[in-house]
Amino acid sequence: MKLARKKIYLITGGAGFIGSNFVHYLYEKEENIEVRVLDKLTYAANLRNLKEFESRRGFEFIRGDICDAKVVKKAMAGAQVVVNFAAETAVDRSIDDPQSFLKTDIFGVYVLLNEARKNKNLKKFIQISTDEVYGQILKGSFMETSPLNPRNPYSASKLGGDRLAYSFFATYRLPVTITRASNNYGPWAYLEKVIPLFITNLIDGRKIPVYGEGKQIRDWLYVKDHCTAIYLLTCKGADGEVYNIGGGQECTNIALARQIIKLMGKTQRDIEFVQDRPGHDFRYSLDCSKLKKLGWEPQYNLAKGLQETVEWYGANENWWRPVKQKMDQKYLTGYWGRK
Ligand code: NAD
Ligand code: DAU
Repeated sequence: MKLARKKIYLITGGAGFIGSNFVHYLYEKEENIEVRVLDKLTYAANLRNLKEFESRRGFEFIRGDICDAKVVKKAMAGAQVVVNFAAETAVDRSIDDPQSFLKTDIFGVYVLLNEARKNKNLKKFIQISTDEVYGQILKGSFMETSPLNPRNPYSASKLGGDRLAYSFFATYRLPVTITRASNNYGPWAYLEKVIPLFITNLIDGRKIPVYGEGKQIRDWLYVKDHCTAIYLLTCKGADGEVYNIGGGQECTNIALARQIIKLMGKTQRDIEFVQDRPGHDFRYSLDCSKLKKLGWEPQYNLAKGLQETVEWYGANENWWRPVKQKMDQKYLTGYWGRK
């Protein structure tokens, strides 16, 4: 009897926040798979996110840079599905020092696409882009066809990767699908992202730094809902198409801070208004009807997702404590300084 060949997934950036959640989700969904994670292990990565798979047959971790064609070629060999999460992802850092963003988020995507072209087994290449490529929107919501107007070096670099991926579909018919998701939260997020920063500061009895007046709006997507959407798109995403993925949970930063404070039994005095981010995008909002037509619906509202996230960080101090000790201490009191 001939055994069916195992499906091979290449997950780049799989030791980071969303990538590692996606690896967990893949193993929940499928058994007969091989998963290769290619990750450079930047400051944002954490191999402990993948610890339970270390000795699993068919799981392989490769430490390497997506800008390095040699290592990418090796990791790509025989892969049917590639999901590219690898990126420099922190907006504040990109404002301070854009160079690594241009390299990984544009050139690295090119190297991956170029090696993917040579891979005869490839069925799907998912490029994980971001809602930030549209820029800010004061009223209404972005459709996939809306104009692209990134306003910081991170989102401008991500747009480079996003459009390069599309160009490989248009030019070479590479089976590329592009996703643009809103702000994620949940387990294993690096602590410079606002929700884990606020939760861990409050656990430590510190104040939480709200930029400006806290009036900016983000649409919060629980990371597991993001994973279900990406998985669906590996099967049903049309080649050459873009899909928005939003949680439908818009909230100002100050309202978010207050919700977290309430959940954790803290008070308004734990909030500190600090210097704003330069060029701070005011609001993101996505129309996700295209994805919903494929059968996707988010399962988490913000209240439920925040409750689980607060509980997770409360129960996993051994995960985040060493990260917090090593992280850029500027974040603790406001990346751009006090007012
Ligand atoms: P993260 O910063 O937690 O993880 C990024 C991972 O990529 C890390 O493990 C890092 O080591 C790896 N990496 C960085 N440069 C690399 C390189 N040159 N070669 C190989 N690996 C490299 O990021 P995240 O929040 O999990 O985001 C994952 C993806 O999702 C990114 O592409 C990001 O732009 C996109 N995205 C994130 C959000 C969000 O809210 N976090 C929302 C929308 C889209
Ligand atoms: O929208 C998707 C994007 O969301 C992703 O593409 C990025 O990779 C991801 O980092 C995230 O970008 P943001 O800049 O929106 O996320 P961040 O967690 O840095 O900030 C969320 C909001 O909270 C933003 O309006 C700035 C504010 N903020 C942030 C920090 C770190 C504060 O008020 N205080 C803070 O200390």
